Amino acid sequence: MKIEMKNIYKSFGATEAVKDVSFSVAGGEVCALIGENGAGKSTLMNILGGVLPADKGKILVDGQQVDFNRPADSLSAGIAFIHQELNLINDLPIYENMFLGRELKKKGGILDLEKMVEKTQNVFDAMEIKLDPKTMVRDLDTSYKQIVEISRAIMMDASIIIMDEPTSSLTDQEIERVFEMMGTLKRQNVGIVFISHKLNEVIEFCDRYSVLRNGELVAEGLVKDVDVDQLAKSMVGHELRTISLQIKKEKGAEVLRVEDLSYNNDFKNISFSVHKGEILGVTGLLGDGRRELFQAIFGSGQIESGSLYLNNQKVQIKNTADALQRGIGYLPRNRKENGIIKDLNVFENASIVTWPLFDHLGVIDQEKQERKFEEQVKKLRIKMRKRSDPINSLSGGNQQKIVLAKWLSANPEIFILDNPTQGVDVGAKEDIYDIILELAEEDIAVVILSSEAKEIVRICDRALVMYHGVIQGEVKDKTMNEHEIMRLATGAGMNSVQEGA
Ligand SMILES: Nc1ncnc2c1ncn2[C@@H]1O[C@H](COP(=O)(O)OP(=O)(O)OP(=O)(O)O)[C@@H](O)[C@H]1O
Ligand SMILES: [Mg+2]
Repeated sequence: MKIEMKNIYKSFGATEAVKDVSFSVAGGEVCALIGENGAGKSTLMNILGGVLPADKGKILVDGQQVDFNRPADSLSAGIAFIHQELNLINDLPIYENMFLGRELKKKGGILDLEKMVEKTQNVFDAMEIKLDPKTMVRDLDTSYKQIVEISRAIMMDASIIIMDEPTSSLTDQEIERVFEMMGTLKRQNVGIVFISHKLNEVIEFCDRYSVLRNGELVAEGLVKDVDVDQLAKSMVGHELRTISLQIKKEKGAEVLRVEDLSYNNDFKNISFSVHKGEILGVTGLLGDGRRELFQAIFGSGQIESGSLYLNNQKVQIKNTADALQRGIGYLPRNRKENGIIKDLNVFENASIVTWPLFDHLGVIDQEKQERKFEEQVKKLRIKMRKRSDPINSLSGGNQQKIVLAKWLSANPEIFILDNPTQGVDVGAKEDIYDIILELAEEDIAVVILSSEAKEIVRICDRALVMYHGVIQGEVKDKTMNEHEIMRLATGAGMNSVQEGA
């Protein structure tokens, strides 16, 4: 099957999201669609997926013009769409989600649960996914939800699959699995549109590429003819720096110290400390426990035993508001689920956590809060129109920046960032790194949780590598490299220096 989109235009009010773009994909090829945050990638694919009508232009399937007025039209033409935002129902088990709208029924109209479970299990087996189809979606980690979405598209037997940033919340191991799945699909002559900000994935896995910038097609060609730097350059329109960003300086006083912290099997006997002006990385593979650990420190998770010290005072953090008042900020991972409140507008989303701080005798200083917001919009180069616009009108990466803005305006003393550059483009990533470095310069203690070893090596002063709930080792200076991080993250013995807490 071959899909062609010809001279497509789409505006939202005064925003010209897609301008005269032509794009095609055929069975058996993987086409990368790349571009900065807000470049128009999701909009173009929403048109192909029948989610949005184009203002102008046409779509051809095997040379025949088609009209996709609803997602169902596109689906019945054989196009499956895995959206950037997750589309699963939390209150249903996996197998029912796999068959949403296409439930299997027995004679007499009763749902054929066994059959649905069995078919789901078959797909999982074929892809070597260890998940019980009867698990409630609510109980899945986001990365597994993403895997369920991909499996669902595979089960639809689509001829073309659109994947809008399928790997942004996955760990390296899971990404490997997704690529294997994609390889199988390709051999079965399925065509794939692959949207990703991880350009090495594009180089590794795609056949062709198209680059959008400000809604226009600015480059296209064969992946074998380009490298990561060339792709990055055509995305942003100029060269990007690649230097290491670590700044060597004396670390300041200790801000946070954790001694022997444990909870269940989530994390065990964790001891470490963070100092003013330091950027501490924490990394590991899925199930390493870093998120549970830092949620516990932030007061949104549980602690069984052990102690916490802030500025050498032993403390007990009751809840997240308490943590915030004590100067701890926490940028949650997965904007898709934790960062954004869909019913609030851009400004409200950016300000919500700081309400307690701008609250003076029960009255919120609106003006001060707005000033702060404008500052952040400039600093983070957030692409948006009006403060009062719905948050969904921002592109995915710009939503992520809004989430960052809201935590920055809380002026934390310790700032924990969980996957801060998830889903942001290469240019914006550099912006975020700059901000993190600035925070450290301002003597804030920064903790970065990340599954990208490359990112850790690039910006952190040192890093803790976790494995199944324990600190497997610490890397810094000479041992601060991707190889050593991977070695520890996969459970290899500890031979690096343990920090004297
Ligand atoms: N429903 C909408 N209403 C108003 N503006 C919108 C809407 N959807 C998208 N836009 C605007 O259209 C432009 C393109 O957005 P789009 O979501 O297609 O970007 P993207 O390339 O997918 O970016 P990202 O990498 O951040 O996901 C942006 O300026 C965005 O703010
Ligand atoms: Mg998008």
